[in-house]
Amino acid sequence: MAKSGARFAQALHKAIDRIAWLENKKKQVVRDELGYDLGRGGAGPIEYWLYRRQAPSRLKDAERLARLIANRGGWQSGPEMFTMLESAGHPEPSLIIREFFSSFGRADWAGVYQSLTPFVVGSPIYNPRQFFGREFELKRIFHALRASPMQNVFIEGPPRSGKTSLLHYVKNITVMSMALLRPGQFINWLDIPGAYAWVLVDFQDPRTMTQEGFFRLVLEGLDLYEPPLPVHLTEFVDRVARHLQRPAVLLLDGIHTGIMSSALDASFWMALRSLATNLTEGRLAFVVTSPCDAMQLRNNRPDAAAFFDLFSHNLPLGPFFPAEARQLVASAPRAFNTDETDWMLAQSHCWPALLQIFCRARWLANEDGRSDDAWKQEALRSAMPLLKLLS
Ligand SMILES: Nc1ncnc2c1ncn2[C@@H]1O[C@H](COP(=O)(O)OP(=O)(O)OP(=O)(O)O)[C@@H](O)[C@H]1O
Ligand SMILES: [Mg+2]
Repeated sequence: MAKSGARFAQALHKAIDRIAWLENKKKQVVRDELGYDLGRGGAGPIEYWLYRRQAPSRLKDAERLARLIANRGGWQSGPEMFTMLESAGHPEPSLIIREFFSSFGRADWAGVYQSLTPFVVGSPIYNPRQFFGREFELKRIFHALRASPMQNVFIEGPPRSGKTSLLHYVKNITVMSMALLRPGQFINWLDIPGAYAWVLVDFQDPRTMTQEGFFRLVLEGLDLYEPPLPVHLTEFVDRVARHLQRPAVLLLDGIHTGIMSSALDASFWMALRSLATNLTEGRLAFVVTSPCDAMQLRNNRPDAAAFFDLFSHNLPLGPFFPAEARQLVASAPRAFNTDETDWMLAQSHCWPALLQIFCRARWLANEDGRSDDAWKQEALRSAMPLLKLLS
């Protein structure tokens, strides 16, 4: 994989955030300390790499920095450290990584993947390697986010259709290392991926249902959090409007819940609208999800109706195309036969959540050495509640 300043900066940002959180320090302090420990007299070079999206020109600096971060617990896993070294053009990152993650090596990459369950039932897809399909939706979303001014996207899909999984994928895919993906997964959706700031707000999280909780989450995600936390909407808007330099995407999951919160009042939604229009000159955009359409949300909350005028792209999230469904089914560790695959596509109507249930049932039967068709009944039983939701 080629050297990439953008991916280097992204990995470094993440590591500094983690150290700041672990040591309860300001990120500025962590940047200073790392710069001194590198023997470079302060935060200067670190900030250059971060904000100019550059990787160090000397490999020695990248190695030393990766070790300093590892010593402070800044890498959550070997693959994170790998991404940073690889994006700095390091020819053999595993040698350094093994100093800190003893079992890490070429063979262990296979281990990283094997420990991923082949089929995900219940929770959204967090790991891009386990995400399939949605190429049409991804094209539309990234088209909107590449535009200047950026445009806003409203994703409408029934419960369990894959809304949250799609938001996580959009947030992560552009800065992933190819080494962590399936062959052929496309990552070059944006020209300068590391330039973007992403904040995913889940309105099922009670912390997001108060203005202060929302401000904290967003400011932390935009790297604009400095105590004291703004308690008033005007201070929050002022901080974002003055200091946001990079393109920023706020992914609001389950906006139908957020819009019903009395704490998030009409002026809150109008302020978000202003941020996405005049105040940041189009550098901030929203991608939101909901099981119902924007019209219904407007009707539920007429005083915030103007917020929904922002959305020029409405994306209904339906089942997979058959080719996408076949790709998911074909990812089984041991291939299913054609009849089984056809049965799964027909019974699931290509909804990903149902395909995952059917694939898992077949795979578990395989693991147990069962060759009869009983797995189909089990699968249909587990799928029953979803069949109702999705129909
Ligand atoms: N692109 C995808 N690739 C593979 N599996 C997927 C994909 N999208 C969704 N799924 C499957 O569908 C299930 C439901 O996905 P997800 O939780 O993202 O849906 P949702 O629309 O956010 O649901 P809810 O309305 O309950 O919030 C996941 O557990 C996963 O198994
Ligand atoms: Mg969801």
